[in-house]
Amino acid sequence: MRYSLESASDYFGSIAGSYDSLIRRAVPRYGEMLARLVDFLPPAAERILELGCGTGNLSLALAARYPGASLTYVDASSEMLMVTGARLREQDPEFAARGRPRPCRFEEISPSDGPFDLVVSSISMHHVADKAALYRTVHALVPPGGTFRWADQLRGGSPQIHERIWTRWLEFCREPGNCSEEEIHSLLEHAETHDHYTPLAEHLRMLEAAGFAPVDCVWRDGMWGVVTADRGR
Ligand SMILES: C[S@@+](CC[C@H](N)C(=O)[O-])C[C@H]1O[C@@H](n2cnc3c(N)ncnc32)[C@H](O)[C@@H]1O
Repeated sequence: MRYSLESASDYFGSIAGSYDSLIRRAVPRYGEMLARLVDFLPPAAERILELGCGTGNLSLALAARYPGASLTYVDASSEMLMVTGARLREQDPEFAARGRPRPCRFEEISPSDGPFDLVVSSISMHHVADKAALYRTVHALVPPGGTFRWADQLRGGSPQIHERIWTRWLEFCREPGNCSEEEIHSLLEHAETHDHYTPLAEHLRMLEAAGFAPVDCVWRDGMWGVVTADRGR
């Protein structure tokens, strides 16, 4: 397998079949993180935008939480969009029929694509270099009272803290039953080539600068966190 594919989505498209197994072995408490993100979703949403559906683990949770909603799910990998579409059809054909798979890069989304009551994302924001620009777009996509909620990988707040949480992550990957050395090599090469980690404080600052208030981090474990950003009425 080639690991240094041109973009993050090429990489994920090439591992769509093994992604679900790998993500659970490479992200500590992945299921708990998604569950916390879902816990902190608003009680109601009709128009939902998901950035980076991957194989649809969050998409399926959204379908269960908001069965009457319409979900636009974005991913630059057509393989990932197909996997998510198939899983949604299996779980809830009516919800899937209303769904809109959108093959594009996050950076191509524009305010005219909205409005959405809720914008969500899981482990995908760190693929975007210019997060301030994306946060401004997302703010323009949600009307007053709308909200943006995401889970993602973070940079530590200082080089020392980043090194510690990175080391802890690698220790987790090397635990028996988790990742092989070949998988770790692939993950590290992917991170080096495609990932743009940002400290939590910087995310919150950029979200506030985009106009979101209040913003919060409602769950964190080392490199991973769940962030909420509301647009006031
Ligand atoms: C790590 S996966 C996360 C998938 C899923 N949300 C989850 O939590 O398991 C990141 C996804 O984002 C997509 N992606 C990465 N960078 C992207 C970009 N700039 N624009 C659109 N999709 C992108 C990848 O193809 C991949 O499916």
